[in-house]
Amino acid sequence: LTPTPSLPIDVNQNIFEMEYAVRGPIPKRAAELRNQGKTTIPCNIGNPQALGQKPITFYRQVLSLIEEPSKIARERRLKTLFHGNPKGFEGLNERDFISDYVLDLSDKILSYAPAGLGAYTDSNGPLFIRQAIASYIDRRDGVEPSDPTRSDPDSIFVTNGASESAKFIIDLLIGDENDGIMIPIPQYPLYSATIKKAGGTQVNYYPDEDNGWIFNTTTLEESLQAAEKKGIRVKAIVVINPGNPTGAVLDEQTIKAVIDFAMEHRIIIIADEVYQENVYGAKFVSFAKVLGEQKVPLFSLHSISKGFYGECGHRGGYLEIRNSPTADGTNVPLTDIILKQASVSLCSNTVGQLLTYLMVSPPAEGSEPYELFQQEKREILQNLSDKANMIRDAFKEMDGVECFGRIGAMYLFPRLNKLPVGTTDFDYCMRLLETTGLVTVNGSGFGQREKTQHLRIAFLPPKELLQNVLPEWIAFHNEYVNA
Ligand SMILES: Cc1ncc(COP(=O)(O)O)c(C=O)c1O
Repeated sequence: LTPTPSLPIDVNQNIFEMEYAVRGPIPKRAAELRNQGKTTIPCNIGNPQALGQKPITFYRQVLSLIEEPSKIARERRLKTLFHGNPKGFEGLNERDFISDYVLDLSDKILSYAPAGLGAYTDSNGPLFIRQAIASYIDRRDGVEPSDPTRSDPDSIFVTNGASESAKFIIDLLIGDENDGIMIPIPQYPLYSATIKKAGGTQVNYYPDEDNGWIFNTTTLEESLQAAEKKGIRVKAIVVINPGNPTGAVLDEQTIKAVIDFAMEHRIIIIADEVYQENVYGAKFVSFAKVLGEQKVPLFSLHSISKGFYGECGHRGGYLEIRNSPTADGTNVPLTDIILKQASVSLCSNTVGQLLTYLMVSPPAEGSEPYELFQQEKREILQNLSDKANMIRDAFKEMDGVECFGRIGAMYLFPRLNKLPVGTTDFDYCMRLLETTGLVTVNGSGFGQREKTQHLRIAFLPPKELLQNVLPEWIAFHNEYVNA
């Protein structure tokens, strides 16, 4: 049979050339290995439940009741029967029933959203969810309801994960290749890919690896000036805190430096704060808090995918805008234009919206689900911290491996100082996969300073798995680099 020649068609070159390493050739090879029956350990992406992290009970109880509201009344009936005759329910006790708190909360949510989860919502998300997000932000930042810097529900968008928030902003800011957005190097490739897709220019700035990935205004000025010399109009700066892939947690001074810089050059700050719960003892300080009353435009992002929630597949998150600029030559605020962008896809998915609501509305202290919720949260975060330390300890036994910065987010980004001549971090990660089953991402997938080599590993696999694979990795490494 002669194969039918396929139709050649002119495609969008920006999309054709766009790269996204965390789902790139290494994970593709891992999929092939799995199809051949080999075991792989997917550490290429921050996807906690894919590696066995259990969902938070409170979230899933509410979610299931809202999806199937008839269960609320059923659960109440069963509980009444149980209380009337506990002996008739042998083997069951109070804890086997859903708490009144969760049942009442579910009723409350349905009173705000009587159509349930099957109906489109407002494009920016239901008002009660945006109000809950605003009060979460204020609680987090210690802002009183009477304070002028309190969060405004009308400047909040509930989105399909933080990724959609980032896309809304970048698509809006980029007109052509002369429009630039500053991004840290290394960075999470959502940013490079979205800038590329929009046809804009990525303007790199370089946090100082040997100094725990901090940076100051000089670093930022250098990168801005270099871009301006090439005729690029820099419109925004992206900061990822805690960092992906570095895991670095920024201090208040660095955040202040970004704000001063943005103020001076009249640019927007895009603060990706999806890892705000993943700080393991360090303190997370939000951009909104440090910004206070300063009139710098701030777009901050959060997500249900990370933290201790790990609900990546449910695609929820929000974008909060402060000091919205207006589109040049008009008095139309960018918030209005983003609302228009959101309207094009009608609304974000309602399960993600609900989980975003739950993320910002944890069980009240002293309520029935409170203890279990806190225990699950503590265990997940402690476990992540333990695993990060296990992997960092393993690096000490690997020839020429250094890892800088405080531990944050879900990743370690060690520098591979010693690779055989002529090989790259990509070659290393590929061979590591073939030898041990560990799926990591080469540093070049995130961008890195010239002449340096890294890899990123998500510290998510169960401890037992790590205990087995880390010695194999150490052995592989020392053999590979000394071959
Ligand atoms: C820094 C950063 N921002 C955004 C995202 C995307 O998050 P979401 O799942 O909410 O789209 C990720 C995912 O790994 C991330 O690491």
